[in-house]
Amino acid sequence: MGVEIRVEGLTKSFGRQTIWQDVSLTLPAGEISVLLGPSGTGKSVFLKSLVGLLKPDRGHIWVGDRDLPYLPESQLYDTRKLFGVLFQDGALFGSMNLFDNIAFPLREHTKKSESEVKRIVLEKMDMVGLLGAEGKLPGEISGGMKKRAGLARALVLDPEILLVDEPDSGLDPVRTAYLNQLIVDLNAQINATFLIVTHDINTARTVPDNIGLLFRRELVMFGPREMLLSSEEPVVRQFLNARKVGPIGMSEEKDVSELEAEAKMGHDPGKLPPIPPQLMASDGRVRPAQHAPGAWCAAHGVTPPPGSFIDDLGRNWVEEWPRYVASMAPAGADHVPGGPPPGAPGGRYPSPPPGQHGAGAGY
Ligand SMILES: Nc1ncnc2c1ncn2[C@@H]1O[C@H](COP(=O)(O)OP(=O)(O)OP(=O)(O)O)[C@@H](O)[C@H]1O
Ligand SMILES: [Mg+2]
Repeated sequence: MGVEIRVEGLTKSFGRQTIWQDVSLTLPAGEISVLLGPSGTGKSVFLKSLVGLLKPDRGHIWVGDRDLPYLPESQLYDTRKLFGVLFQDGALFGSMNLFDNIAFPLREHTKKSESEVKRIVLEKMDMVGLLGAEGKLPGEISGGMKKRAGLARALVLDPEILLVDEPDSGLDPVRTAYLNQLIVDLNAQINATFLIVTHDINTARTVPDNIGLLFRRELVMFGPREMLLSSEEPVVRQFLNARKVGPIGMSEEKDVSELEAEAKMGHDPGKLPPIPPQLMASDGRVRPAQHAPGAWCAAHGVTPPPGSFIDDLGRNWVEEWPRYVASMAPAGADHVPGGPPPGAPGGRYPSPPPGQHGAGAGY
C-alpha cells in the first residue's frame, strides 16, 4: 500500500535563481498530502523533481531504498513507473479521443494485449466517472472532465504514488467539491501515496492527512493537517485562513514598512477558525491511512480552536469517531477493502459521515 517518499535537504535553482532550498519532508505511505504556496514558489518544480524530470542541485529523494536524483537512467525509468502524474496543464493529446489518451501509458510502457488495455482503461474511466465518454475528443468536453481524464491516465499503471498539480484550477466550487470527493475515494480504493498541489484553501483544510507550505524559497512547515490548522505561525496562519493581514503580500512578500504599518494600525490576525472534520470516503469507509479526528491535537497537548471537528449536523467527530469506527468494522470481522462495510448486527452506522457526495459522472 503506497510507498513512503523521504525528501532530505533538497535544493533547486535555475541559473542564479534559487527556487527553494533545504526542503525536507516525508510523504507517509498511503496518506494524502497537500502542497500549498503562493504562485511562483516552485510547487510544480517540486513535483517535477520528485518524479525525476528535473534534477535538484543538492539533496535526496528516497523512494524506498533508491535515491532518485542519483539513479542511473535505467533504474530511474523503473522507479518512475511507481508514479502517476497529473501535470498542471493536463496535457491530453488533442487529436486523440479519451480512450486513446488514457490508454497511452499502457501502450507505451507495457506489452499488454489490446483486450487487456481495454479492460484497464474502462476500469479507470469508471473510477473517475467517465464511462461512456471514451470516444470524445478533449476539445469536446468540460474542464472538469479533462481533469478527470488526466487522473484516469495517471492511474492506468496502478501507481504507488500519485502526484497531482492543481486538479481544481479553473473549476467552479461545486466541481471542485466533486473532485475532492473523487480524490478521497480514489485514495480509499488504491491506497497510494498522494501529493496534491492546490490553491484552494477549502481543499487544503478538508481533504489531506498532511499539509505543506512553500514560501520565500523554503518549506515553512510540513505536517499533519491538525498541526497546520492549529498553527500560530504567521505565514501558515495567513495562508490557511486566506487573510490579507500577515507576511504574504500581493507580490509574494510584504516589505518591512508595510508590516510596520499593519502593526501600527493594530491589525491582528484574528482568532483561528475551527478545524473542520476531514472529508470521508463516500462509501463511509475509513481509509487505512486515516487518522482519528483530534488525535494529533490530543497527542501534542494542543487545544484546537473552539468548534473544531463539528459537522453541519452539530456532531462532534472526536466523540463520534470510536462509535463510528466500531460500526464500520466490528471486532473480529475482516474489513474487505473495496467491499461493503461488514454487516454488523444493526447494519451500517445510521447516519452519514461528514461531507458525503457521490462522485457523479454529471460534470
Ligand atoms: N524549466 C525551467 N527553467 C527555468 N526556470 C523555471 C523552469 N521551470 C520553472 N521555472 C521557474 O521556477 C519558478 C517556480 O515555478 P513553478 O512553476 O514551480 O511555480 P508554482 O509554485 O507551480 O506556481 P503556480 O502556483 O503559478 O503554478 C518560476 O519562477 C519559474 O519561472
Ligand atoms: Mg504550478
